[in-house]
Amino acid sequence: MAPSDDNQQIYEDAGVIDIYKSAAPPQQAELNMFEPLNAELKAGRLLDIGIGAGRTTAYLFPKVGHYVGVDYSHGLVKAAQQIYPDAEILWCDARDMSDFKDASFDFVNFSFNGLDSLDHEGRLQVLAEVRRVLKPGGHWMFSSHNRDYYRRGLLPWQPPFKPGRVMLKKSAHAIISHKNWRRLRKEQVETPDYAFVNDEAHNYSLLHYYVTPQAQTKQLEEAGFTDIRVYDQWGTEFTGTSPKSVWLYYDSRRA
Ligand SMILES: C[S@@+](CC[C@H](N)C(=O)[O-])C[C@H]1O[C@@H](n2cnc3c(N)ncnc32)[C@H](O)[C@@H]1O
Repeated sequence: MAPSDDNQQIYEDAGVIDIYKSAAPPQQAELNMFEPLNAELKAGRLLDIGIGAGRTTAYLFPKVGHYVGVDYSHGLVKAAQQIYPDAEILWCDARDMSDFKDASFDFVNFSFNGLDSLDHEGRLQVLAEVRRVLKPGGHWMFSSHNRDYYRRGLLPWQPPFKPGRVMLKKSAHAIISHKNWRRLRKEQVETPDYAFVNDEAHNYSLLHYYVTPQAQTKQLEEAGFTDIRVYDQWGTEFTGTSPKSVWLYYDSRRA
């Protein structure tokens, strides 16, 4: 099984699904990207990819002319459909969006680093599919782990331990995490352009794609996107590097 298929299985886990069911508000970067576009959103069609249990559905469904939410976890799609029965929520793997016509959306969103669950080949497939389903000039927004992050590569036994119950809980997590890390570390990939590496998410059970803003910008340009803007996790637009930000948000347009 390819490491990215392993990632897909994690999103079918009941415990992981429960985590995504707890409602969380929009992130500041999302508010900063979407709020100035309210008028365009109201008239437009938005495809929201990797919605989990629908965190972004809560925010975007009431805002847009037509909303479609998708995810490749059957368990998460079911959870989102139960929480948002009025929204159009479907199972779909973003690597193959043949259910959707060419140039049929004004906005495509893939929030909270969902794109990073995929390996390099899968990521390029998604970029090609997003370009295909977007209208010319349409927005492509997503977040991705930042390869410049100053604490990247923290190992399972490194988080600080505190006394008492917290320490016991953290020790249990450290044991599970260490087991996962030993299994997945062999699958890690580091290249000049990107890394696909095990990190602390869900007790070190996933491999995630990390990329610098410069390499991501080049990748977007090569895939047919333009007007690329980069925001740190607190929603501030920047150029150059942002080592304190664990992930970055990208807003771009289909050329
Ligand atoms: C980190 S979770 C974020 C969930 C949700 N967007 C949120 O902010 O709470 C990433 C999500 O992306 C989904 N995902 C990853 N790769 C996908 C793909 N190729 N197609 C569709 N969904 C995908 C996962 O199933 C998961 O629900």
